[in-house]
Amino acid sequence: MKYLHRHLERKFLKMNDFFKVIMVTGARQVGKTTMLRHLAREERRTYVSLDNMAARELAKSDPVLFFQTYPPPIIGSAVKPSDNKIL
Ligand SMILES: Nc1ncnc2c1ncn2[C@@H]1O[C@H](COP(=O)(O)OP(=O)(O)O)[C@@H](O)[C@H]1O
Ligand SMILES: [Mg+2]
Repeated sequence: MKYLHRHLERKFLKMNDFFKVIMVTGARQVGKTTMLRHLAREERRTYVSLDNMAARELAKSDPVLFFQTYPPPIIGSAVKPSDNKIL
């Protein structure tokens, strides 16, 4: 897949100078995960998907170990409405 650059990348990087947490929301399939993975690679950040059940369980059960395993700054996804929670 050829990655198409998104205008939001620049906005994300600008906001990144001011905020500790940035939440990217939007409809399914609009390209959130793809853009965040791309930014994580470019910025050499840890990428973690909370779709990964092991990672999600670790974040809930042992946050200290979670941040040792996935050292900040982190870019990640995803928060599912069915979880009704933001980790
Ligand atoms: N920037 C992009 N360049 C090229 N293809 C893209 C891009 N963003 C998304 N896509 C395509 O659209 C599909 C859905 O994107 P995805 O990042 O999974 O959406 P979301 O996380 O918002 O549900 C991907 O499988 C990919 O093929
Ligand atoms: Mg996604």
